[in-house]
Amino acid sequence: MARLNILRYPDPRLHTVAKPVPAVDERIRRLVDDLLETMYAAEGVGLAATQVDVHERVIVMDTSETRDHPIALINPELTWASEEMRVAEEGCLSVPQIYDKVERHASVKVQALDRQGERFEMHAEGLAAVCVQHEMDHLRGKVFVEYLSALKRDRIRTKLLKKARDGQRDD
Ligand code: NI
Repeated sequence: MARLNILRYPDPRLHTVAKPVPAVDERIRRLVDDLLETMYAAEGVGLAATQVDVHERVIVMDTSETRDHPIALINPELTWASEEMRVAEEGCLSVPQIYDKVERHASVKVQALDRQGERFEMHAEGLAAVCVQHEMDHLRGKVFVEYLSALKRDRIRTKLLKKARDGQRDD
């Protein structure tokens, strides 16, 4: 396994739309393992392949408190979303140290392939629902700051660009 470099907003590659995975083979299993290692190392609850500059529909997440319930979703599709919406504070490994409120469906059902290529359905609520919607946004090239006002987004962009220029590290 290997830790991968995480793209930082406003890197334009974060806006790439991911393609479906043609087959769950060794290459994809290695990608899943690398995404999980990278996510755990960065103490994130989710990571999309888009964020490591791989533009295929693969996300990983672990919203358990014990950090021992890795989930891989390959070619995920929402099959149901609650009418009830909920506002929660979000962050993103591609937008370090920025947290803000985003409104999302309170619960969703998602169908995907697992690491073995088996189809499964997951009913997510609470943090898991937030996470799966956030990560699926990444696959279509959307970063959570795009839900915020243009003013806030500009401030975030300026702050992160300055940080990148100054060569500051967050870790
Ligand atoms: Ni994110």
